[in-house]
Amino acid sequence: MTEISSPDWPQGLRLFPAALDAVAQAELLDAVVELIGEAPFFTPRMPRWGRPFSVRMSNFGPLGWVSDISGYRYQRHHPETDRPWPPMPQALLELWDTFARWPAPPQAALVNHYRPGARMSLHVDRDERDLRAPILSISLGDDALFRIGGPQRRDPTCSLRLRAGDILLMAGAARRCHHGIDRIYPGTARLPRAIGEGRINITLRRVDKG
Ligand code: SIN
Ligand code: FE2
Repeated sequence: MTEISSPDWPQGLRLFPAALDAVAQAELLDAVVELIGEAPFFTPRMPRWGRPFSVRMSNFGPLGWVSDISGYRYQRHHPETDRPWPPMPQALLELWDTFARWPAPPQAALVNHYRPGARMSLHVDRDERDLRAPILSISLGDDALFRIGGPQRRDPTCSLRLRAGDILLMAGAARRCHHGIDRIYPGTARLPRAIGEGRINITLRRVDKG
C-alpha cells in the first residue's frame, strides 16, 4: 500500500492514495445507496442561527453526528425519522482495522454528500470524548480540495486533492487540526444515480474512550 506524508503536513496526517480499487468503491457506494433508503440524507443546520450546511449527511453505526440549532452532538437516532442508524457495514470495520490501528471499533460512520458547489468550512472535530482516537476518511466520487492547518484557526494551512478511493488518516497532532473542503471538482467521477452528482466522504469515528 502506498502511503504519502509530507514535512509540510501536521504530524499524524497520512494519505493512502487509491487505497480502494473500483470494485471496493462500488461496494461502498452500494452500501450508501442502501443506507439512504433507511436513513435518508438530512441537511444539518448551524447551531444557534440555523443556517443550513451545503453538505447533506447520514450515518452508519450505533452513533451518528448531527447538528441543529441546539448544537453539535452524537445521537443514536436519525434526526428526522427518529429511527436508529443502520449498522456499520463490515467493510468499514475492516478498513478501520487496517488503517486506523486503534484497539476499539469506530462508533459512527458519518457520510457526507457534497453536491457541486458544496463545501465544508475549517473546523476541528471535537465532539468525541476521546480525541486521541484517529479519524479515518474515505473519499468516493468527485475529487475534492482538502485543506488542513493547525490547532489554531489562524495557523497556516496546506491543501491536497482527494480522489475517489483515497483514504486519509487524521491521527496524532493532525487529529486536533483545523481542516475542511474548499471545493469539489464536479464531473471528475460518477456516483450511483440514487445519490446524484458530487462527492461522498465517509469518516469513521470513535466517540467514547476505549
Ligand atoms: C470532515 O472533515 O468531516 C469531512 C472531510 C472530507 O469531506 O473529506
Ligand atoms: Fe472533520
